[in-house]
Amino acid sequence: MPTIINIWGTTVEEYAEVARRFDALGGVGALELNVSCPNIKAGGAQFGTDCTLLSQVVAACRQVTTLPLITKMSPNVPNIAQLAKAAEDAGSDALAITNSFPAMAIDIQTRKPKLANVTGGLTGPAIKPIAIKLVWEAAKVVKIPIIGMGGIQNADDAIEFLMAGATAVAVGTANFYEPQTALQVIAGIRKFMEEKKISDVKEITGSFQPGK
Ligand SMILES: Cc1cc2nc3c(=O)[nH]c(=O)nc-3n(C[C@H](O)[C@H](O)[C@H](O)COP(=O)(O)O)c2cc1C
Repeated sequence: MPTIINIWGTTVEEYAEVARRFDALGGVGALELNVSCPNIKAGGAQFGTDCTLLSQVVAACRQVTTLPLITKMSPNVPNIAQLAKAAEDAGSDALAITNSFPAMAIDIQTRKPKLANVTGGLTGPAIKPIAIKLVWEAAKVVKIPIIGMGGIQNADDAIEFLMAGATAVAVGTANFYEPQTALQVIAGIRKFMEEKKISDVKEITGSFQPGK
């Protein structure tokens, strides 16, 4: 089974160097660029929230590898469509939408943060509706495939992502409490296709009908 390696860096050069090394390693199926980490050279800006920085990262990695590049989009952006297009134009082969949402929790007895890092990434069912909207908005502007994720617990959740425009889906958090989730999602999508007489799962992608 091909392995997708999720990589990150603190500078454009670092991303490219990591991509180059994994390319040289062999046996890697694809590289996923995690563009939600701090960019030291840009004074704390995030690669995933700035079209110019995002283009630079994707283009730099594109130059050093022929492996498929998946850009893992940040959810914390005012306009995902612009960033999605920037990643596509810079040479990304696919998009993964979405990463976790910055969040925090306070212990009201101690008035201290519940998380060691004070803030952390929110994942799971709570983010699903927001993630689906991000997929829908990005799918309207890019031609490259989108891997949808964010709170998928079952086939119905996955089908929602497909209808919003995703070509594939991924399961993160649910694996921690139900390791069979991915298998259940596959079986459930097959059942849905049988019931609806859909012969190719591609027919579901983007089939959402927002009109009345
Ligand atoms: C424990 C944990 C670790 C994660 N680590 C990474 C990571 O290293 N890189 C990344 O791009 N996303 C990471 N994510 C985000 C997930 O890949 C996924 O985008 C997010 O959790 C939303 O999907 P979910 O709701 O199904 O978990 C992590 C998520 C969790 C829960």
